[in-house]
Formats: sequence, C-alpha cells, structure tokens
Amino acid sequence: MRIMKNNKYNKKPTSLHCNDAGGGCRYSLLTIIIWTVVGFFLVVHLVSLYSRKDNNIHDDVSSSDQLQVVHQHQHQHLHLHHPVVHQLVRVEEEILRMPPPRKRSPRTSKRRSRKPIPLVEEFLDDKSPIRHLFFPGLKTAAFGPTKDMGNETSYYFPGKIWMDTEGNPIQAHGGGILLDEKSNTYYWYGEYKDGPTYHAHKRGPARVDIIGVGCYSSKDLWTWKNEGIVLGAEETNKTHDLHKSNVLERPKVIYSEKTQKYVMWMHIDDANYTKASVGVAISDNPTGPFEYLYSKRPHGFDSRDMTVFKDDDGVAYLIYSSEVNSVLHIGPLTEDYLDVTPVMKRVMVGQHREAPSIFKHQKVYYMVTSWCTGWAPNEALAHAAESIMGPWEKLGNPCIGGNKVFRLTTFFAQSTYVIPLPGVPGAFIFMADRWNPADLRDSRYVWLPLVIGGPADQPLEYNFGFPMWSRVSIYWHSKWRLP
Ligand code: DGJ
Repeated sequence: MRIMKNNKYNKKPTSLHCNDAGGGCRYSLLTIIIWTVVGFFLVVHLVSLYSRKDNNIHDDVSSSDQLQVVHQHQHQHLHLHHPVVHQLVRVEEEILRMPPPRKRSPRTSKRRSRKPIPLVEEFLDDKSPIRHLFFPGLKTAAFGPTKDMGNETSYYFPGKIWMDTEGNPIQAHGGGILLDEKSNTYYWYGEYKDGPTYHAHKRGPARVDIIGVGCYSSKDLWTWKNEGIVLGAEETNKTHDLHKSNVLERPKVIYSEKTQKYVMWMHIDDANYTKASVGVAISDNPTGPFEYLYSKRPHGFDSRDMTVFKDDDGVAYLIYSSEVNSVLHIGPLTEDYLDVTPVMKRVMVGQHREAPSIFKHQKVYYMVTSWCTGWAPNEALAHAAESIMGPWEKLGNPCIGGNKVFRLTTFFAQSTYVIPLPGVPGAFIFMADRWNPADLRDSRYVWLPLVIGGPADQPLEYNFGFPMWSRVSIYWHSKWRLP
C-alpha cells in the first residue's frame, strides 16, 4: 500500500489507495475512521456478550421452538433441573371472559359508542360483575398456613387473600422485605391498612387513615407471623407527620452494620399528596418499635413513590419519583443511612415512572417501575444500568404470560420490591400490589417469579442499539411455589 499523490484518483492529500494485482481500491480517511470506530464497538460488544453469555437465555415467547431453547438455556443458567424450576418459567395463559356489555345511560353510551368496556374499567368498577376475577372473596380464595391447603401448601396464589399464621389477611401493602442475616429470618414491612377508604376532599385521591407500618416475619417466605405495628400512627397531634389523617406509603427497611440499627425509609405526605417528603425511623430490632426521626424533601425536591436499595459494598441509595413524578432521583445515603448526601442524579427524565423496585445481578442493576396512574394499574417497564447512578437503559415490558391486558397492566398490579429467589441464582421474586381503590385494605399481593436472561427487546439508547443488556422476565402464574 502506498500513498498516492497528485494523480487522477487523488486530488486530495488525505486519501489512501491500495493496489493489488492490477486492481485498485480506494478508501477515504473518513471511511477508515468510520470502520475503525465500528470495529471498536463490535469488539466491545463481543467482549460484553462473551462476558454475559450466561445471561443470554431468553427471547421472545411467541414461538414454541424458541421457547424450548429458552427453557433449556434457562435451566443451564439456573443450574437446576428440578421440575419446580421448570415450572417457574413456564408461560401460562389466562383467559378472562368479558361480561356482556352492560346497559348504560344514553349519554354515556353515546360518549363511549358501542365499544366493549375495557377490562381496566371493569377492574376499577366495584360493581363490576367480573370483580371476583380480580378480587376473589375470602370464602373461596384465601390461602396460607391456617387454611387446609392439602397438597397446595406453600403455593402462592397471586391476587387471592393471603393469611398470616393467625388466620388474618396480611396487611403489608407497598412493602419490602429485609433478610435479617443475624436470625436468618425474612421481615416483610408494608402499609397496614385497616379502615374504610374515602376521599378526603371531593376530588382528592382515595385514601385510608394511617394505622402504621405492619411487620411480618417468616423463615420460608410463605408462612408469615404478624409482628404487629412497628411504627404506629399518631392519634391526637394533628401537626405530626404520622397523624392518621396523613399518608404513609411504601416503607422499606435496611440494616446498618455500622450503627447496628434497622433504618426505615417511607413516603410521607398529607392527604392531598402535596407534602411529598420522605420520612426516616430507626430501631434496634427488626420487629421495632421504630422511633420516628423526621421527614424532609430530599435534595430539596418533592418525593413521592420511593424505595431504598442497599448495595453489596454497604452503600445504600434512595430512589424517588420527583418533579411531580416526571423523573426519578437517585442518590446515596449517608453512612448511617439516616439522611441523603448532596449527591443526586436525575434518571428516566420525563418518563413519569413510579413504584421503583431495584435489584442487582452479576454487577448489573435492574429496576422495574410503573407509569403514574394513581391506584389504577398500568404497564411495567424494566430498565438496566451498569452504575446505579445511571444512565438507565430501557429494556421493555417484563411481563410474560397471562393475556394481553394482563401484560399491559402488570397483571393488574404495581411493583413494590424484588428479592432474590432463595437458592436459584438469576431468579428473583417480584412483589407487586393489586390495589383495590374502592377498599384499599382489601388490596392483594401479586408475587411472581422474575428471571434475568436473554437480550432486551427494545432498541437501546446508550449502547448504540447493541443488546448489551439481558431481558427481565416476570412470569404470570395463577399458582406457583418456590423450588
Ligand atoms: C400510586 C402510587 O404508586 C401509590 O403508592 C399511591 O401513592 C397511589 N399512587 C396514590 O394514588
């Protein structure tokens, strides 16, 4: 190869030419630069694929051939050939029969034409004739250790009524789970809702009075003992954050090895959701009592749905919906977990995500969130990131199975927390709330297996379209159990 100057092919001194066996080829410097860059990213991509090859186990579920391959890979990945693991990733269809169109007032019928009533409207309508499909009753659909479950003991029944060890419905909504390594016990904290649902104002959101944060303990994630209200409402002092007329949502507890304290973070609000703050409480024991410390607007911003995530290195982060729910903010907590630091990043800007739940697998962070539609269910999205501070890359809707409406409504539920599925690396339990806006205390739990694997199904923003990330898949099951 030689550099040609001043011939008919090369008027510009920046072109390179090569001649071989009489044929000539010409590359402009620009072309070489472009191919070098493309080559570089291909190498980066291949290295990344190679380093994550274990993850690439799942793809679209539309073809049964693909599905078989998926399942084979999943088994390799999950290192288990146990039939119960196989059950976790089985795609289960759910057929919901729509009721015949109901008679409506002439004005309503005109407005809505003669279209069938959307299933979400049925879900939100407490008079719907198919309400039992979403909120089956106590007599027929309660499960738990006090029921005679026969050979269905240990099975989860998403959407049915889950009883504690005393035979009462579990009250731990918008909750999260702490694995206490000292006692090898799981603690499930959540909103204890036990009272009528009403609207504080004519156009205000549906609400219940604060009772407090409920806590349940378990060794097996199925049998839950009620440990009582570990942070209670304030009955008399109307100026107190926890006065029963306010809002306490989405409590999450982490343990600080440094201070040996259990630290609870929660969403604190007034009945109109204008205070938009986080609250912090502390205890020496997982079962409380928790002492309420204070509330604040983190980093000076409004904060509504939130969660906390404790990383492997002990650094914990607060993640909250902010700027009127239009963006998520993420920032590390102080070493004692009692406050935020000044560091904060805005992520998923303008995407209006809430109900964040974060988990980590093989050094990659994943987050499942919902869109913001009050108590009504909507489509979940999964995101992934190499740094928890972002950028977060959209992976797509993680829901698999059920039916189309199920997948577009997160199985008529909303994310709250994700925990590792014991003994199955790469598998998790996705915890969600099926809110019952007409009677919030009767909201149900939708726990489902979540598996990481296979290329993401969305074009990616930050990786030049390369499928750098693994898919997150949440499998619908009307009943399932841990392996
Ligand atoms: C959706 C949130 O995710 C819930 O926690 C709750 O704040 C409702 N909105 C209130 O409408």
